[in-house]
Amino acid sequence: MIRLFVAIDLPETVRDRLGAMCAGVPGARWVDPANLHLTLRFIGEVDNPVADDIDATLSAIHVPRFDLWLRDVGFFGRGRGVRALWAGVDASDGLMRLQDKVENAVCAAGLARETRKFTPHVTLARLRGVSASRLQRFVAEHAGFMAGPVPVDGFTLYSSFLSSSGAIHTPEASYSIDN
Ligand code: 2AM
Repeated sequence: MIRLFVAIDLPETVRDRLGAMCAGVPGARWVDPANLHLTLRFIGEVDNPVADDIDATLSAIHVPRFDLWLRDVGFFGRGRGVRALWAGVDASDGLMRLQDKVENAVCAAGLARETRKFTPHVTLARLRGVSASRLQRFVAEHAGFMAGPVPVDGFTLYSSFLSSSGAIHTPEASYSIDN
């Protein structure tokens, strides 16, 4: 079994800018800047033959290159239930087309269709029991954050290994989108 997800990598310049924002919320578990990414599809645990099928269907994806724009920060959840702090990503036609193709590719490999709506974001921190007022302050301080254009010419299939010190992400395969 292997735990997989599909993501767009971000250039170091953008990860550095995001990483520089990651402070000032006590109790937040900040994502290591090297691991900041835009998840296109969380796959979860699959058997190795299914992983091979996913690799094959992802390899067949062709879409035009596009640019990403990151914009604003926010959080998922409410009150005591806030769970993630993120930088937003514009739901551009290019991004949504790629995400749709990735979803179809994963389904063609035999997985159930994702029912949750795709909300493009880059998770900056995972949260538990963090004060809502601190989060509001973080969001207010970073309102107007913007990064782009970030050219996208491919995406990556990652495995995720859960260790006691957090998740370890390993690139398993990379795909060009327009070849
Ligand atoms: P995120 O981008 O919203 O944080 C690797 O774990 C990636 O898969 C994470 O970046 C996470 O999304 C995403 N993911 C989605 N659903 C998940 C789940 N149920 N468990 C773990 N990760 C999940």
